[in-house]
Amino acid sequence: MHRQNHVSRRALLAILGALSIGAGCSRGESEADSAAPKPASGTEPAGKKPKKLSEIVVGFSQTGAESSWRIAHSKSIQEEAEKRGVQLLFADGQNVHNNQVNAVNGFITKGVDVIVIAPQESVGWKPTLKEAKRAGIPVVLTSRGVDAEEDLYATVMVADFVWEGRQAGEWLAKQTNGKARIIELVGTPAADVAVMRKAGFAEAIAKHPDMKVIASQSGDFTRTKGKAVMETLLSAHKGEINAVYAHNDDMALGAIQAIQAAGLKPGQDIVVVSVDAVKPAFEAMMEGKLNATVECNPLHGPLLFDTIEKIARGEAVPKRTVVPGQVFEREQAATVIGSRAY
Ligand code: AHR
Repeated sequence: MHRQNHVSRRALLAILGALSIGAGCSRGESEADSAAPKPASGTEPAGKKPKKLSEIVVGFSQTGAESSWRIAHSKSIQEEAEKRGVQLLFADGQNVHNNQVNAVNGFITKGVDVIVIAPQESVGWKPTLKEAKRAGIPVVLTSRGVDAEEDLYATVMVADFVWEGRQAGEWLAKQTNGKARIIELVGTPAADVAVMRKAGFAEAIAKHPDMKVIASQSGDFTRTKGKAVMETLLSAHKGEINAVYAHNDDMALGAIQAIQAAGLKPGQDIVVVSVDAVKPAFEAMMEGKLNATVECNPLHGPLLFDTIEKIARGEAVPKRTVVPGQVFEREQAATVIGSRAY
């Protein structure tokens, strides 16, 4: 249901047209890497008052609930919407691309003021984004990007996925003295995050001739599939493996179960490194079963609504904002776990 007094479409059309479209290029270390916004002057539609966030309706198409990371991401956005008094229409895509496309088309038909998409897949968005643009509805991307021209969306907020993969690869090289026979558990293959985490890792281990990926298979970012894939690969490559690189913690936690079921010790017989740094990963590190995790912060809510607020006020926003992360090793787990918010 819409608020009765939401911001006018014409005003937002003017705002969208005025948003900066400079390309962002960034690394994982710092938010200062964000592409600089163009000057805000002149973005305010003539004769229009700045818009209050509490007056707008936001449609949010979420990927699904495939991982602890994703659940924390949804929660952060929902809680922040509530805190700021924004009406948020939440659509769970249940990890099906077409569900998300249908949800976004529904938001356009309803006439929401801003659309937020956390895309499961990066391709197949252009017609929908063009439709949103035609309707004058700004689109904000969070958690993953899309394969589309930059003028089809207002801004994207993501981690530096290549950096994350590279950190995992470099950490593993150090840990194994450059000698590793690796199983790679890939995320959702059509997602930019999986492609980039794979590329960053491959780049890092390419410097070490004795590091080889023996098998690389998708576990779709879920614990259940991570476990199933690991079971299959462990029996196909019995005695050959000494490392696992999982594109997220949930798959790593599934793999850890499979390693234990095969009578091996995760964290010792097989070194396990993953990405996300969610609380269950810290617990696994404290138990000695996970060796390291590269942080990918899911708490996008505050930044997302700051950005939407700027858009509603007619201010420029950076085309791309990188949410920074860091590497956590198991030796740090006990000290850090208490302060983990997700
Ligand atoms: O897009 C971010 C990734 O998606 C997270 O690393 C993963 O856990 C999630 O499912």
